[in-house]
Parts: sequence; C-alpha cells; structure tokens
Amino acid sequence: TAGQARGREMWYNIRMQIEILPSLLAADFGQFAAEIRRAEASGAEALHLDIMDPHFVPNISFGPDVVALARKTAPGFRRNVHLMMSRPDLYLERFAAAGAQTLQIHIEADCDLHTELGRIRALGLKAAVALNPETPVEILAPYLDEADGFLVMTVHPGYGGQTFIDGCVPKIAWLRARRPAADIMVDGGVNDRTLLTAAGAGANQFVAGSFLFRQPDMKAAVDGLRRGAREAFACAR
Ligand code: DX5
Ligand code: ZN
Repeated sequence: TAGQARGREMWYNIRMQIEILPSLLAADFGQFAAEIRRAEASGAEALHLDIMDPHFVPNISFGPDVVALARKTAPGFRRNVHLMMSRPDLYLERFAAAGAQTLQIHIEADCDLHTELGRIRALGLKAAVALNPETPVEILAPYLDEADGFLVMTVHPGYGGQTFIDGCVPKIAWLRARRPAADIMVDGGVNDRTLLTAAGAGANQFVAGSFLFRQPDMKAAVDGLRRGAREAFACAR
C-alpha cells in the first residue's frame, strides 16, 4: 500500500548514511601523506585504498604499508580496503594489522567466500563482496546475508580514470531490493553525473578517484557529490 511504501521510504532515508570515498589510487604517489590529509580535510567519510595484484588485474598498486601510512597520517579517517587479489585469503591478517576497517573481497577471487567473509568478521572488520562488471549479480544470492556490504564495480578493475559502465547500474537496484539496509558501494568512473545514476538505483557509498583528486577544492567537490547523492537517493524511494 501507499502507507507501507511511505513507511519504507522514511526508514530508508533515516537509516542509509551517504558516504563519499576518495580513492588514493588517483593521488600523487610522490606525496601520499599530504594527499591522505587532503582527502581527510575534504570531509569525505572514508578513504578507499585499492590493492591490486597483477594476476587478478593487469596492474600493481600498493600494499599493507600504505594502509598503515594512512592510519599513521590520519588515524580518525576510516580505511576501506578493496582487495583486487586472486588470493585475498592469504593477506586478511596483514591488512587487518595495517589498519583496514572494511575489507572487500571479489567474488571472482580463488577462495571460498563463505569462509573468508566469516574470517574478516572474526577479525573485527566489516566484510563486503565486490563484483566485476562482467559478473552477473544473481551469483551473490547465497551471500546476501553474510556480507555487511556490497561493491558494484562500474569499470573493469585495474586502473583509475575509466568510463562508468551504465550497464552495471541494475545490479545496484537488485541488491538494494534484497538488502534495504546494507551498504552498497559503487566504484569506477564516478563523477557528479554518474553518481546520480548510481544513487538513483540505491547506492549509498561512492568511490571517486580521478574526479576528486583533480579538484583544486576537494571539499567543495565532496559536498557537491554528497548533496547530489542525497537527493537522487531520496528520489529513488
Ligand atoms: C579501479 C579501482 C577504483 C579506481 C576508481 O580498479 O577499484 O577504485 O580507483 O578510480 P576512478 O574514480 O578514477 O574511476
Ligand atoms: Zn576500488
């Protein structure tokens, strides 16, 4: 009924925290500490750290030492660690010890997701499942209740600065319909336009790398993204 729909709308809007996450992959690698401070000063809710091995993606980024640097540089700035790795299971403790607070592992990785989500939570961290663009979202059905959140990739992982793939957006709506209160993050090609599409489908966490780090005033850009996301997310309900 309309009343139930309105009740649900209220509940969604109160419960869902909109978060903007600058991706350190787009920072100046010669000035990590200054860039981490710039991201924190922007008022963004958390830092997104992209960990890549060259087997899972065609690139190499950085490892636990950079997560530890983020903790040392900005202890109060939450660290969201995206493991684009074939064997994330071998490194969970290392990233936990370095200061990761959320660990995201890919469903395409070579490990048992049930087991590893449980291990991440046992380490006291939030556990999320990431999904590549070519992977159908229905594959997540057995894990819906085991993850704190979901990460919908809207580019092929490996590099920043790519174009948002619109075809991935229905996956966000599929997840939101099944997990109304879970964190649903979108990552890849997010800017002030594509963010609206993702928020309209029900995403509440937005990674932005190249769009944010190229801004002379990152705070104004983060504020603008958050405002846009709040409005688009509200409209979708
Ligand atoms: C892609 C990474 C993304 C990337 C996003 O492999 O997972 O987090 O840094 O960068 P932009 O926002 O530039 O697409
Ligand atoms: Zn990422």
